[in-house]
Amino acid sequence: MDFDEQLAAGEAVSIDGWDFSWFVGHATEERPSWGYSRMVADRLGNATASLDIETGGGEVYAASLHAASTRPPRVEATEAWPPNLAIARATIEPFGGRVAHVENDAPLPFDDATFDLVISRLPSVTPWHEITRVLTTGGAFISQQVVHGTNRELYEFMMGQQWIDPISAEHHLSTGAREAGLEIVDFQQESPRLEFFDLTSVVVFLRKVVWTVPDFTVEKYRDRLRAMYEHILEHGSFVSYGQRALVIARKP
Ligand SMILES: C[S@@+](CC[C@H](N)C(=O)[O-])C[C@H]1O[C@@H](n2cnc3c(N)ncnc32)[C@H](O)[C@@H]1O
Repeated sequence: MDFDEQLAAGEAVSIDGWDFSWFVGHATEERPSWGYSRMVADRLGNATASLDIETGGGEVYAASLHAASTRPPRVEATEAWPPNLAIARATIEPFGGRVAHVENDAPLPFDDATFDLVISRLPSVTPWHEITRVLTTGGAFISQQVVHGTNRELYEFMMGQQWIDPISAEHHLSTGAREAGLEIVDFQQESPRLEFFDLTSVVVFLRKVVWTVPDFTVEKYRDRLRAMYEHILEHGSFVSYGQRALVIARKP
């Protein structure tokens, strides 16, 4: 496909849900070595009440619930974005779960000390105080976080050089947890590799992962997309690196 055909193909792909299966054959993404979904499945097997914050389309939560040896009697999730809320309900309700419509900065609609397991993968906001409040004593919070600089190679290719946060992700995250009264049990950070093999996949990624280039539209970034097209023709792909952290915390 030529440049214009790839742009049109990238604009035609649906970006609802938080499912990345479309990318198979177009782009690859390494997963962090700690295996979030498996780790959550193991914990779900021992939990009595679990909450997933910003569940997206519920796909990852459902995979962990499916893999768990037993399911918690109470399964809850929150989601803010209406298109994903409907998808998440269809995904989580078959597991006996419920998905509450909650804005990302709003209080969680649950009583104090309700959950022995709270999880959240790639949330846009981590409501540390609310997490502590709804956890039981001894309850755990497990989160895979996107941290500053994720896909810097991609966003700087599109937008030019950007600000670099001098404070480490570990400092930001452990401060958030400790100030809310949680104890950090484990912290890990990795830079998984992303490789785009066509321009269509770059367009779909930038439309879907909206915070990468916040004002992205194909029209506005046409010149940089042309440069990306030429880069991929010359090198066979475009390589970028995500920044991910794993935080496991406990309410003492
Ligand atoms: C990065 S997603 C992660 C979802 C889920 N926890 C997972 O790991 O698959 C985080 C949040 O961003 C929301 N989101 C995704 N695309 C969005 C968009 N275009 N506009 C607003 N929110 C969006 C999701 O619905 C979800 O609540």
